[in-house]
Amino acid sequence: MKDNNESYCIYPGSFDPITNGHINLIERGLHIFDKIIVAIANNLSKAPMFTVEERREMIRLAFANNPESHRIIIDSFDGLLVDYCRGKGVHVVLRGLRATSDFEYEFQMTFMNRKLDRTIDTIFMMTGMQWFFVNSSVIKQAAMSGACVSGLVPDIVCERLQEKLRSLKGKKTKPKGAENKADS
Ligand code: PNS
Repeated sequence: MKDNNESYCIYPGSFDPITNGHINLIERGLHIFDKIIVAIANNLSKAPMFTVEERREMIRLAFANNPESHRIIIDSFDGLLVDYCRGKGVHVVLRGLRATSDFEYEFQMTFMNRKLDRTIDTIFMMTGMQWFFVNSSVIKQAAMSGACVSGLVPDIVCERLQEKLRSLKGKKTKPKGAENKADS
């Protein structure tokens, strides 16, 4: 339940998976807002590596030892972000900006959201310098090519990436019908 005496923002994203850049932004966002709702988009137009539940679990575990974790609410949404914001009664969206290359996309999305609902505003924070080159796609690409992404994502994400890649590899190499034979 939302407390109206507290300031809230919604930090939406795919978080597929969460990176240290996201973590940095959430931690800094907590200096400004009392509560941050980390909203995982169940974006059907993208083919995510992790399910929403897996992403939610990684975010939860990444903040498990953070004394401020009680101020972070992890949720997911389908459909339009503005509808989700309205439903929550929150009118501020937080987004991170890394390089100017992010700007065009963010600019378009912010104006579209404002066109859809003028009561919702987006505020931007620059991503921490250390994480300028980090995003979920580059992390997945690197991990899939066998690179170590430790230090760029929380440890739990490193572990889950390895598990996921092993299970995907297993599925690829399993001969047709192998699942049925093993089951019988
Ligand atoms: O981490 P991402 O993938 O850059 O996050 C993008 C996200 C999920 C915030 C954006 O795609 C989004 O808001 N999706 C929900 C649908 C929506 O409202 N789109 C904008 C108006 S068409």
